[in-house]
Amino acid sequence: MRREHITSANALSRGDIEAALDRAAEFAADPTAHTDRRPGALLGLAFFEPSTRTRMSFAAAIKRLGGDIVDMGPVEASSVSKGESLADTVRVIEGYADAVVLRHPSEGAATMASEFVDVPLINAGDGAGQHPTQTLLDLYTIREAAGLDGLTIGIVGDLKYGRTVHSLAHALTNFDAEQHFISPETLALPESVRYDLDATGATIEEHTAIEPVLEELDALYVTRIQQERFPDESEYRAVAGEYRIDAATLDGVDDLPVLHPLPRVDEIAPELDGTDHAHYFEQAHNGVPVRMALLDLLLEDHR
Ligand code: NCD
Repeated sequence: MRREHITSANALSRGDIEAALDRAAEFAADPTAHTDRRPGALLGLAFFEPSTRTRMSFAAAIKRLGGDIVDMGPVEASSVSKGESLADTVRVIEGYADAVVLRHPSEGAATMASEFVDVPLINAGDGAGQHPTQTLLDLYTIREAAGLDGLTIGIVGDLKYGRTVHSLAHALTNFDAEQHFISPETLALPESVRYDLDATGATIEEHTAIEPVLEELDALYVTRIQQERFPDESEYRAVAGEYRIDAATLDGVDDLPVLHPLPRVDEIAPELDGTDHAHYFEQAHNGVPVRMALLDLLLEDHR
């Protein structure tokens, strides 16, 4: 993975994924014991959209490796507000950092930006496109909770605009997973994602109701309806709250790990938080060792 850009999960092989997850497991054993790994390495953060977990866990990860961040800060306080292009912004940041993390509202932004820089550029979410590093921490969490090979997973919610779904679905094809996609018809997988999945020979099924498949699942991945991507507020209101998972939904379903990239709005009832189903906070916490592993691999030649 050395000095490569991470713009799409489609480019991650099973070998890449396993190398990252195995190293993450080493870091997770004691995240505080690795500040000698990448001393002085600088990670540039360029977030053009809100973020809590991704931004903070990348910052924690590089600091745990002995490095630090240089942060563009809020868009309003940067020269983006003066009209600077994305290409110029990342070209400037690469002079200040050994790798760049970019989150942007436009699908394809990370791939475009990566063409302008030599340091590794990491896609931390490009509109309704992809979010490959979230996928690594999702896979890490699923591997711990249910195993990956031959997994049967339900993925529910906003499959149209949910970038974490697009990345995860593709990455899971490396593990012969059987994937059940559950959404309202208006928020089904985009044709391009379905096409890419079909091209890998993936086993996928699409549903509009969760109950008929629940019993078959080894894991359930819940997503937020991506309100900010809806062209029309009334379209959002028509589907909001349709797939709320609560204690009644999971009544009689034992041992089903429930994941969510977070933030949740009302897709998972708080009454599940204290149950064995709840893996979503641990999932968010796994962002640190997983991003440590990714940065450690990408910055291999950094001394
Ligand atoms: C996700 C994102 O930004 O795509 N959040 C995250 O990074 N954990 C999911 C979401 O916003 O719903």
